[in-house]
Amino acid sequence: MNEYILGIESSCDDTSAAVTKGTLVLSNVIANQQVHEKFGGVVPELASRAHQQNIIPVIDTAIKQANIQKNQLQAVAFTRGPGLIGSLLVGTSFAKAFALSLNIPLYDVDHMNAHILAHFANDGSENPVPEFPFLCLTVSGGHTQIVVVKDYFEMQIIGKTIDDAAGEAFDKAAKIMGLPYPGGPVIDKLAKEGNPNAFTFSEPKISGLDYSFSGLKTSILYLIRDALKKDADFIEKNKVDLCASVQHAIIRILMKKLVLASQQTGIKQIAIAGGVSANSGLHKAMQEAAAKYGWKIFIPKLSFSTDNAAMIAIAGYFKLLKGKTATQNAVPYSRQQNG
Ligand code: KG4
Ligand code: ZN
Repeated sequence: MNEYILGIESSCDDTSAAVTKGTLVLSNVIANQQVHEKFGGVVPELASRAHQQNIIPVIDTAIKQANIQKNQLQAVAFTRGPGLIGSLLVGTSFAKAFALSLNIPLYDVDHMNAHILAHFANDGSENPVPEFPFLCLTVSGGHTQIVVVKDYFEMQIIGKTIDDAAGEAFDKAAKIMGLPYPGGPVIDKLAKEGNPNAFTFSEPKISGLDYSFSGLKTSILYLIRDALKKDADFIEKNKVDLCASVQHAIIRILMKKLVLASQQTGIKQIAIAGGVSANSGLHKAMQEAAAKYGWKIFIPKLSFSTDNAAMIAIAGYFKLLKGKTATQNAVPYSRQQNG
């Protein structure tokens, strides 16, 4: 059961295609869409148009890099949701037509499940994989949730954000500081030079395992607005300290609930997934928590943390093992189905 699978991801602003053989990743091609940068966020209409332009060359490159012929593919897996409908439709329609033309089965994949299943991707290095049950902090541009992963498709969300996602908090903070989109990687880079304790922001007072990031955004906005009244160059002069402090605040919020979730469930195998899991400050915080609480931690490689099609192909592979095929009637969904 080591089929060649083509994975297609088009839920937001990255067009990606990958070829896997079992869980082995043979190629993972990602085309970023620069077109959104000047708007400070993803423009849905422009995203779907860019997916249409990118999808054929990206798939073609993924097949070539995998060193196989198109007709060796034995299955197609695609992101069905959640995401932007116009963007999802491009990948979904292409996947259906591709599967039909080659007469091979089709597997629909949930984007958030796939971020977690990216931990089972094998890129040739000897990375250990988590054992069930494990906890996963899934942090992306649209979601922030703590998930108990009981099996490949049995996942229970025990905590989630009630407003903004952690990635959104990074992106909005960057926008306030006049930094380009997406803000997460930019803040991450600048934060390395700054003092994380230079500025303090209000922390959410929300009980249980849920998150809230909208208060932090307001707190950053007010601090900067007031400081700019006294010094028009405040942002420029304090950029690295602001970035380090914002990043520190977001990570503190994320880690506090993750520690609580581990204590409440008794689970000590802890993974992180999604775009924000690429953050170097979060990696450090996870390593510190591992030492302090005796956790075994799992941090995905950069190419498997932000949106990518390898995770879609891997999730498709586990669906294939379970015989859970999709039909030509599968339609995309914009919101998470089990959240
Ligand atoms: O998972 P992802 O690629 O797309 C979604 O499904 O949303 O996550 C994108 C988010 C963006 O908000 C981006 O700013 C954030 O992940 N991100 C980061 C880093 N790299 C990407 N946030 C903090 N630090 C990073 N290094
Ligand atoms: Zn994502």
